[in-house]
Amino acid sequence: MHKTSILIAMLAIFGVHGAAQDDAQYQTWMKSMQPTVGAIRNAADNAAAAADATKLADTFGKVAIFWKAKNADDAVKFAETARDAAKAIAAGSGDKAANLQTIQRTCGGCHSAHRGGAAPNFTIK
Ligand code: HEC
Repeated sequence: MHKTSILIAMLAIFGVHGAAQDDAQYQTWMKSMQPTVGAIRNAADNAAAAADATKLADTFGKVAIFWKAKNADDAVKFAETARDAAKAIAAGSGDKAANLQTIQRTCGGCHSAHRGGAAPNFTIK
């Protein structure tokens, strides 16, 4: 094989590998959402939910960066809206149920726009 084609083949392999790793990481973030949201819902007040809300804000921050790299503005907006509402809970400001509702609206909004496939094999679109 010609030297340049070997190089191109290697780049292709590493490129695909990198994307698959990103998607696996993304799935880990998503799978952490339901338990964290549940814990926030069951917490007595903002203070009791603070640790989980901080974790959720952190995850949504990473989700926002993921979509920024894909130039998907609507997805970035969903993720940042959820992140900011989670931050508000963590900071003890506002009504926990109202902020939780804001967060949960972003789940469905982003899923209908960017979640492809079907359970258990969802894809990113
Ligand atoms: C910015 C877009 C976006 C937001 C906001 C979002 N999701 Fe997702 N979610 C996705 C995409 C895209 C997938 C499909 C890719 C995947 O499954 O990894 C997904 C998949 C999932 C899955 C399936 C994971 C799997 O593959 O088994 C769960 C569960 C999930 N999301 C929960 C949530 C919950 C709960 C929220 C809100 C608290 C939420 N998501 C908010 C984009 C989003």
